[in-house]
Amino acid sequence: MPAQGAKSCYRAVVFLGPPGAGKGTQTRALAERLGVPYLSTGDMLRDHISRGTALGRQADAVVAAGELVPDELVNSMVGVWFKQQSDSNGVVLDGFPRTVNQARELDQWLGNNGPVVINFRVEYNELIQRLTGRRSCPQCRRIYNVYLKPPARDGFCDCDGARLTQRPDDDEQVIRERLAAYERQTRPLVEFYRQRTKFFEVDGNQPPETVTNQLCRILEGADVVCNQQ
Ligand code: AP5
Repeated sequence: MPAQGAKSCYRAVVFLGPPGAGKGTQTRALAERLGVPYLSTGDMLRDHISRGTALGRQADAVVAAGELVPDELVNSMVGVWFKQQSDSNGVVLDGFPRTVNQARELDQWLGNNGPVVINFRVEYNELIQRLTGRRSCPQCRRIYNVYLKPPARDGFCDCDGARLTQRPDDDEQVIRERLAAYERQTRPLVEFYRQRTKFFEVDGNQPPETVTNQLCRILEGADVVCNQQ
């Protein structure tokens, strides 16, 4: 975490958008191009749940129901991660912040270097199709989609051959709850960030590579430089 006044080139990139908007897909692509670490609070919480930690036991039922985990639990979990990133020039954040309260906490950690915020817009029905069709590799965490981006061999990762899995909260009923939680608790955060200068919106309905290239152009304009691909 950058101390106040230190590392003036430090940049945090925050991805906002409803479940299924492509935040995880773009986070991995962009962190690679920027050469910085990334955080996925969803992955982190699922890891706690699978290991049965104290935090995982508190979060389990909340995540399964498609609701948001309380701010104090998420803030302290992410705070520990931030402290471990003191040597990096920036970070990409997927799934944090998700409430105005979490955004205020992030502001305190970042000091003078406010985040660059990207908001993805995607149609509701497209979100449902993306989430019901999503499959992930438990080893390398690559994301696939049985309808939109299938692996070469049905059910197995192209990269390491591991059997792909489906998230329990990608059940259609829970997806609708997650989308409702987004409207209630995260939509106000979009308006909070919209008032700021480093806020950008991206049409997330485009193909993933087009979105990544557009993100790089936006970030270069905001003085965050992507490596050429
Ligand atoms: P989290 O894991 O963050 O889930 P989410 O926000 O619901 O977002 P998703 O991961 O479902 O979607 P995504 O936007 O990353 O889309 P993806 O790239 O995978 O959170 C899970 C839960 O943890 C929450 O419900 C909550 O309980 C808890 N939680 C997490 N953070 C929290 C916080 N800060 N505070 C409180 N609680 C918190 O893509 C989806 C699919 O679409 C994939 O199959 C992909 O291949 C496909 N796809 C992606 N982009 C495109 C494209 N451009 N075109 C076509 N298909 C695409």
